[in-house]
Amino acid sequence: MILTLEWTEAGVRFIDQTKLPTEETYVTCTSYQQVADAIRTMIVRGAPAIGVAAAMGIALGTRDAAARDHASLREEFEKICQVIGATRPTAVNLFWAIERMRRKLDASQKLSVAEAKRALIEEAQRMYVEDIAANQAMGKHGATLMPSSGGVLTHCNAGALATCGYGTALGVIRAAVESGKKIHVFADETRPFLQGSRLTAWELNKDGIPTTVISDNMAGAMMSQGKIGAVVVGADRIAANGDVANKIGTYTVAVLAKEHGIPFYVAAPWSTVDLATPDGEGIPIEQRPATEVTHFAGKRVTPEGIRVENPAFDVTPHRYVAAIITERGLARAPYTESLKQLANTAVLSSQQSVLT
Ligand code: MRU
Repeated sequence: MILTLEWTEAGVRFIDQTKLPTEETYVTCTSYQQVADAIRTMIVRGAPAIGVAAAMGIALGTRDAAARDHASLREEFEKICQVIGATRPTAVNLFWAIERMRRKLDASQKLSVAEAKRALIEEAQRMYVEDIAANQAMGKHGATLMPSSGGVLTHCNAGALATCGYGTALGVIRAAVESGKKIHVFADETRPFLQGSRLTAWELNKDGIPTTVISDNMAGAMMSQGKIGAVVVGADRIAANGDVANKIGTYTVAVLAKEHGIPFYVAAPWSTVDLATPDGEGIPIEQRPATEVTHFAGKRVTPEGIRVENPAFDVTPHRYVAAIITERGLARAPYTESLKQLANTAVLSSQQSVLT
């Protein structure tokens, strides 16, 4: 299995995703500030991986804090959360992880400070294990939706590299392939950061899953030629009404899929669902540096001084989404109802058995 991130006593270890696919190198962040930088610079990326990286960063920062009493540990904890919470605004998993760590600290008040620090490390490790189990459960639910053969389009990277392992959208594809379906993946290049051509292609290639990379502007042509039977993507945040924030370009793919009568699926763990945000308008969209657009492989490809927009994500309105695949099961329109119902669903027994 691809090792995206892991907790080690020396620090949080990441595969450096900015170097893939040409270099497979690992970096160990030995402070929470370094973890925050790794998230900001996209050494680690993808909503679920960002969430667990954040939790591990918090665990690392509190472990190394000088605090000897609960009041100063809390103070240090909040400072760390502020730094980590300011890295990337769109993926709600980051804030979900911070909140979960805060609850763990709240529940550790009767422990010694050393025990509370250890409890935070264990919580981050638990989140890691849970994420993999959630992806595998999503894979089981989603595999049934995949065509028995033919092309499936995905955008960005919602694979092992975007999670603690197996992936969300790519987990669905992996599970479908494991169940005997003959799927050929079309991976959108995903300008400007190239998560599709660099990362999705890299990990599917490693798994021997047939994959064709296309530039983003080819998706419509592939659909009109009948090469795509379904689309499956990940998500960074899903609002209560089923609107989906995901990598910039996802909206275009969803509209194209609708035009061609192709089902458009979203696979995401429950930690990506944000019932506190009523619809897509309330989702903050990260703006990334202009150089990601003005430069390609370190070389300027636009005139000096030209205006540039670089929103990292867009919002796909729920009317384009055929189903949302979560570890708790499938949600279908009307999403306000189906997501509310899933919110009350106990986690799958398979996931519980991993936890106990
Ligand atoms: O900017 P990134 O690479 O972090 O964006 C990643 C995506 O948009 C993914 O599709 C999303 O986080 C889901 S990952 C399982």
